[in-house]
Amino acid sequence: MGKSLIDGKEIARQKKTLIAEEVEKLKKDGIVPGLAVILVGNNPASKTYVTNKERTCRELGMHSVLIELPESVSEEALLNQVAELNEDSSIHGILVQMPLPDHINEKKVIEAISPEKDVDGFHPVNVGRMMTGQDSFLPCTPYGVMEMLDYIGADIAGKHVVVVGRSNIVGKPAGQLFLNKNATVTYCHSKTPDLKAFTTQADILVAAVGKVNIITKDHVKEGAIVIDVGMNRNSEGKLCGDVDFSNVKEIASYITPVPGGVGPMTITMLMFNTLKAAKAIKNKATTV
Ligand code: GUN
Repeated sequence: MGKSLIDGKEIARQKKTLIAEEVEKLKKDGIVPGLAVILVGNNPASKTYVTNKERTCRELGMHSVLIELPESVSEEALLNQVAELNEDSSIHGILVQMPLPDHINEKKVIEAISPEKDVDGFHPVNVGRMMTGQDSFLPCTPYGVMEMLDYIGADIAGKHVVVVGRSNIVGKPAGQLFLNKNATVTYCHSKTPDLKAFTTQADILVAAVGKVNIITKDHVKEGAIVIDVGMNRNSEGKLCGDVDFSNVKEIASYITPVPGGVGPMTITMLMFNTLKAAKAIKNKATTV
């Protein structure tokens, strides 16, 4: 890959090698890190993500359980399933794939997951810990972004980071993680009147909107680092991000491609969080 490309696949590969080594060590102590994924319904994108998660678990020597529930499953039945997994000592991480059908309250489901097994970092306890700079599970996509920037040795303190998008899964926590590293953070979103006025000030620009080519060359300052979290299909059905990659790469100092950028990091950080959850159980057992 070119000098200015941030190769998420390669960074993920290196990180996964380290995780697999740690998994082997834990196994020698009789602990096999276990991840349970609950998939509700037949959303094809969700199915693909879940299959990738299972495959990666196996690759890294982790225990993986997939629970598939029909679209019509009741909220109560889903909550009972989560409660069962909270009690299951072979499971260290629980992930309920989002989105959930409309008749199920996502917040209620997230809050039902034990914060110690919340490897998505979505539970309000973990969100609060992250906001106050305490140790917590960090949401996998923003965590992956931070790891990529760490890999290229990017300076973050004092830099102006502009995050476009304010979802609970990516935009909001991404801004918080940058703030925790002493960046100056601006959030832009669908109600921001003049997007370019903000994005052209960014030393680091994070695009997490979910709209093809919402960020063009005109939105980017020469030499900026551009992180594309978008995962879209264009009119030809090709996977692409939020950034007009071929033009923006001409002026960015670094840029992440789609595919092969942030995507591989998300699953890797999920594995990392599952390992962390398993290690925490081990530490608890040895300190009691
Ligand atoms: N749906 C899209 N991304 C995610 C994620 O990171 N975690 C969960 N649980 N669902 C998702």
